[in-house]
Amino acid sequence: MFALPFLLALSASLPLAFAAPLPLFGINFGSGSTADGTPSAVSQSTVDSTLLRPAQFARVAYCSPASVTALSCGAPCEAINQVKVLTAGGDQGETPRFYVATDPQTQSVVVAHEGTDPDKLLSIANDAEFAQVAMNATLFPSAAKGTLVHDGFQKTQGRTADIILSTVKSALSSSGFSRVLVTGHSLGAAVATLDATMLRMQLPSSVEVDSVVFGLPRVGNQQFADMVDSLFPTFTHVTNQKDPVPSVPPRFLSYQHASGEVHITSVNSAGDGTLVACPGQENDVSRTPV
Ligand SMILES: *[C@@H]1O[C@H](CO)[C@@H](O)[C@H](O)[C@H]1NC(C)=O
Repeated sequence: MFALPFLLALSASLPLAFAAPLPLFGINFGSGSTADGTPSAVSQSTVDSTLLRPAQFARVAYCSPASVTALSCGAPCEAINQVKVLTAGGDQGETPRFYVATDPQTQSVVVAHEGTDPDKLLSIANDAEFAQVAMNATLFPSAAKGTLVHDGFQKTQGRTADIILSTVKSALSSSGFSRVLVTGHSLGAAVATLDATMLRMQLPSSVEVDSVVFGLPRVGNQQFADMVDSLFPTFTHVTNQKDPVPSVPPRFLSYQHASGEVHITSVNSAGDGTLVACPGQENDVSRTPV
C-alpha cells in the first residue's frame, strides 16, 4: 500500500473520476477483453519517479488560467512552484483549460490539459455515435491511412494544437531542455495523448516526448493504439478503481487502448493506494464497473 497524496487529490478533489453510475455503464464493456498476462505490483519508487509529478501538473490544469499564470492557485500551484508558465488558456467550454510551462526540476517542457465532468465526457464520447475520423494530416503528418480517432476528442485537441505546438517549440529553445511531458485527466488525458502524438511527429527526434495521463478514455482504433505503442514505449495511463471513463468509448465500436495501463486496485481509508502495472493494451475486467 502506498501513499499517493497527489494522485488521490487529483481524483478526490474533483468530482470527476467516481461518477455515480450512468446509464451507459450498464453495458458490460469487459466483454471481448483480452488479458495479455498477469499485472505486476508497482513500487513506491516508480510511483514517485514517474507518476507523482505528472499528477501534480494534471491537477493544476483545473485552475483558472490567470491563477496558473501567477502560480497563485494554492496547494496545486505550490507543488509546482518552480515552474515558469509560458501560456495558459481555455474557457471550460469548448476549449478546456490548458497551460504550457518549463519545469527545472524535471528539465522538461510541460503541457497539461484540464478534463471535464463525467456527464460532459460521456456526451462527448457519445457524440455522433462515437464517430471515428482520420487524423488531421497537418497536425499528424505521419499517421498512416486507416488510423482513426474520436471526432470530438480530435476537435477538442485541434482547438489548442497550434498554440501548444508553437509554445512548446519556443519553450524548448528558450529553456535548452530536450524533454516534453504531456499530461491531463479525463478528456484532458485524451487531448494530451493526441498532443503527445502531434509533438512526437513534429519535433526533432533529439527531443524526448513522454506522456503520463490519468483517467484516459479510449481515443482511437486499433491502428491508433498500435501507433501510440510504437511512438511511446513508456506511455502510461493511470486508471482508478471503477472509474468508468477509461471504459468509453467501448471496444465493440472499434476503440482500443494503447498499452501502459497502471491500475489503482484499491485505496484504504488513510488514502493509501495499491497499484499494478497491466500488460498489453486492454485490461477491462479489472476496471469494469460492477
Ligand atoms: C487541421 O489542423 C490545421 C492546423 O491546426 C487546421 O488549420 C485545420 O483546420 C485542421 N483541419 C481540419 C479538417 O480540422
